Amino acid sequence: MSRKFYITTPIYYVNARPHIGHAYTTIACDTIARRQRMLGAETFFLTGTDEHGQKIERAAQAAGKTPQQYADEISGEFRQLWKRMAISNDDFIRTTEERHKKRVQELYKRIRDNGYIYKGIFTGQYCVSDELYVDGAKPGDACPTCGRVTETVQEENYFFKLSMFQEKLLALYCKPEFIRPETRRNEVLSFVRSGLRDLSISRSTFTWGIPVPDDPQHVIYVWLDALANYITAIGYGSSHPGAQAAFKKFWPADVQMIGKEIVRFHCVYWPAFLMAAGLPVSKAIVAHGWLLFEENKMSKSRGNIVRTETILDVLGADALRYFLLREVVFGQDGSFSFDALVQRYNSDLANGLGNLASRTLTMINRYFKGEVPYPSHAASKAPADDAIADAARTTIREFGNLFDQFQFSRALESAWALVAAVDKYIVENEPWSLGEKQDEDSRSRLATVLYTAAEALRIATALAHPVIPDATAKIWAQIGLGDIKQFALHELAWGQLRWGTKLGEVQPVFPRADKSAVERMQRMEDTQRPAALADQAERKAAAATTNWAQTVATSATATTSSNDKISIDDFAKIELRVGLVKVAERVPKSDKLLRLEVDIGSEIRQVLAGIAEAYAPETLVGRKVVIVANLAPRKLRGMESNGMIVAASLEGGKPVLASFLEDVPIGARLK
Ligand code: MSP
Repeated sequence: MSRKFYITTPIYYVNARPHIGHAYTTIACDTIARRQRMLGAETFFLTGTDEHGQKIERAAQAAGKTPQQYADEISGEFRQLWKRMAISNDDFIRTTEERHKKRVQELYKRIRDNGYIYKGIFTGQYCVSDELYVDGAKPGDACPTCGRVTETVQEENYFFKLSMFQEKLLALYCKPEFIRPETRRNEVLSFVRSGLRDLSISRSTFTWGIPVPDDPQHVIYVWLDALANYITAIGYGSSHPGAQAAFKKFWPADVQMIGKEIVRFHCVYWPAFLMAAGLPVSKAIVAHGWLLFEENKMSKSRGNIVRTETILDVLGADALRYFLLREVVFGQDGSFSFDALVQRYNSDLANGLGNLASRTLTMINRYFKGEVPYPSHAASKAPADDAIADAARTTIREFGNLFDQFQFSRALESAWALVAAVDKYIVENEPWSLGEKQDEDSRSRLATVLYTAAEALRIATALAHPVIPDATAKIWAQIGLGDIKQFALHELAWGQLRWGTKLGEVQPVFPRADKSAVERMQRMEDTQRPAALADQAERKAAAATTNWAQTVATSATATTSSNDKISIDDFAKIELRVGLVKVAERVPKSDKLLRLEVDIGSEIRQVLAGIAEAYAPETLVGRKVVIVANLAPRKLRGMESNGMIVAASLEGGKPVLASFLEDVPIGARLK
């Protein structure tokens, strides 16, 4: 029988439209679910929307809608978005569904019948935004979580005997895997050690909620209602045998992923409710940090959200998925910026995995008629081939360990180190030069090199599939391996790629993004955020001041320069520009020269560069270089060279091309 795996996201409040902060939690869970499915686990991945409570009731009122209309609309947006993002949830629960409401009432009755609920008068402070009772607060005090002023509540309520669970909870926290990471566990420990007070679990001053069984004047506290989704969705409280069997199979959850601000609800209240109902507690609550934008938690109330759709429209779902998991150290807060997104996309996806796939598969097409080659005799082997095989084996192990410890960023780093190693291997083994030779040794060596590259590509693709499902499915099919979903990841090992595998149609999976991608996304967001626009104008003004100051400082230095140095005016005479290599080929009968066609924005220049011994022409196409654009033209081997490519000259004369870590627009002036 296969192992089961049950994973949940929190359910999202429907008072705010989805943004990439929400997408972050969902993406993290989705990648885990996808990896578990590939590993053969019978996986159930749940997400949904949290639709009751005073906060939603008020938001609907403000929008002139009924709470149900309002919830229908925003819940629909979440569902649509997850679809566009290739989120593979098995169910989507809404707390306004009948199945949920009935089952929550069953849970309530169970807790009540077990003797953990009593009636009393509640007097205290409540934060509507967090739907949180703030212990010890006085009228006018702020909520410790969000800083908003709390409201005074005095009403007859039902109470949950939370105080009875202090010792049991402390015993639960002894299992270090129950709360991750450690910092969150320590917070919870100190909160519980400081003493637990009974918790009000009903409200009677508004109606948007699930009625308390046998006392419909009250609605169930929205957090009890919401937390219960994790069990109601899989059949708890149902009389249907199928639903009961599903609950038995999947509960307790293997991973419940949450943001750090809702740790108390999940690590204190939730296990206490479960214990009170006589149910097992979840195996692990894993808390991630926040996605920050402009240095603050991205949230609707701050108005600093980035809509997911903008990124999907410009770069696609895989780009966002990869970026969030690669860039943010899981558990910590991470900043989002469009520049960083595009930079990561270009360096790791377009130039990294995408480029490795297209160059490897294109060469197999060209030199082996589109069939995966296999080395025909041992003489074609070199230590570098074994080094790649070893690196791939290590990566399979490391990636799995890190990923399963929720260290997504480091796991991806290790897979991309393999991609980089294979790139280097290709450059060093020059399959394009081997391809020009016809002797048997060269053919055999070429076969080994391309087999090795394709096999490493297959392994990186399989590992990355849960994170970038769309592109990896395409690469997998291009290698000729069919449907990646059918691949059993636990069997992944070096050497499984079969000789003679017929490649599919080879097409680029990650087209390079240029600078305009950032501007486009920013513009799309700015039209949604007039306030942000004003803010940006302010920032631009501040930036302009800084540039001006730098210019003054530079010219001051220039006027005091000594005679053996050039003045800034002399330097300004040299027109250095960013160019994009469009065409690169060897110059016939020359070992040193390459003929390049370089796009410098205003025109395409032909440049002859003495870099043929250091760079294969194939490796240069699509690369950005620095060109001296106003050098007088000169003729070399009968061809005109119109500019000069800038390179560092190393000892022994090997040139290394100047390049940029950040993305730069074609034609940009260097000064
Ligand atoms: N409805 C409650 C959860 C109930 S679960 C029984 C809730 N909803 S929420 O919509 O406010 O948040 C849902 C999830 O989105 C949380 O895990 C939260 O941390 C996450 N995020 C919302 N904004 C976020 C960021 N800016 N960054 C990262 N995650 C964020 O809480």
